[in-house]
Amino acid sequence: MQFDIKKIVRPNIEKLKPYSSAKDEYSGVASVLLDANENALGSPLTKWYNRYPDPYQTAVKEKLSFIKKVPASQIFLGNGSDEIIDLLYRAFCEPGKDNIIICPPTYPMYEVNANINDIQIKAAPLLPDFQLNVAHIEQLVDEHTKLIWICSPNNPTGNSLDRIDIETILNHFNGLVVVDEAYINFSKQKSFVQSLIDYPNLVVLQTLSKAWGLAGLRVGMCFANEEVVGYLNKVKAPYNISLVAQELVLKALEEVGQVNDMIQHLVEMRIALAQVIESMPHVEKVYPSDTNFLLVKIPQATNLYQYLCSKGIIVRDRSSLLNCEDSVRITVGNEQENTLLVDAMAEWIESTFPA
Ligand SMILES: Cc1ncc(COP(=O)(O)O)c(C=O)c1O
Repeated sequence: MQFDIKKIVRPNIEKLKPYSSAKDEYSGVASVLLDANENALGSPLTKWYNRYPDPYQTAVKEKLSFIKKVPASQIFLGNGSDEIIDLLYRAFCEPGKDNIIICPPTYPMYEVNANINDIQIKAAPLLPDFQLNVAHIEQLVDEHTKLIWICSPNNPTGNSLDRIDIETILNHFNGLVVVDEAYINFSKQKSFVQSLIDYPNLVVLQTLSKAWGLAGLRVGMCFANEEVVGYLNKVKAPYNISLVAQELVLKALEEVGQVNDMIQHLVEMRIALAQVIESMPHVEKVYPSDTNFLLVKIPQATNLYQYLCSKGIIVRDRSSLLNCEDSVRITVGNEQENTLLVDAMAEWIESTFPA
């Protein structure tokens, strides 16, 4: 496999002269800041917020570098991983010409953003056991294939994908392989972050929205080689992570112990919830999960979804996704929420399938 980033990047992005912010041009210590058309009088909030944030989130990346054991230069932060998904298309995929490969059922934003960017989508559906069909993926690759999306653990199926399969793809494909590890903290599998050194074409996405409990701050992480990070920096909006988000993330990153406790608690609740749901009559299957959610196969799943909504309990009806007929995806809640869910499911089963 011959990987050459220059063959992957869009020619207009290679040539692009990116926007140069006031902070790009002067990063020393200054006492009079008259360079960015900010409001020198302050703000209705704390005076602090009248200034633009660090465009490259240096302090956050240093802290993440320590936690993730990845050089800060190999980290890119987005306004959620959703922004990074879009930026990967904008940096590497030529609209109307290039294509990408997805492995459905999977996280729908890979497809939505490809459509927004007018990138052709090729699908290599997961096998019936929800593992990768490597031969099919390899068959689909052509000279215009720029990205292969691999979500592990996968949303909505919940399982981790076989590491050897992912390595085979990394070894054979000379475009970028994006491994989306949004749920990795709930899994016993090893992250691919430590494999960046072995694969120049590897991009790993993680997020603070799940295990870290910071979905409202919108911070997603991308770990990749420095050239990929460089192109993403070229394409992003100058101040894509707000000052509030940077400050709060820095604070949260001090609390690794508390986050690990939450992860452990959520995993214990997931195991307990899976056992309870599995034992309910008419439940066909609770799929094994390495995440903070469960995919449950049950007849008339759409009807169950509507019943739960009517009780104020919102899950996701995933029945329309490939190989997910009659399935709902249930996020593990807190103890009380899980009890309410189980009670409502039991009521619905009783009334829908009278003995
Ligand atoms: C697999 C996967 N990737 C990415 C995301 C988006 O994460 P973020 O909140 O960082 O945009 C999600 C959100 O549900 C997800 O399930």
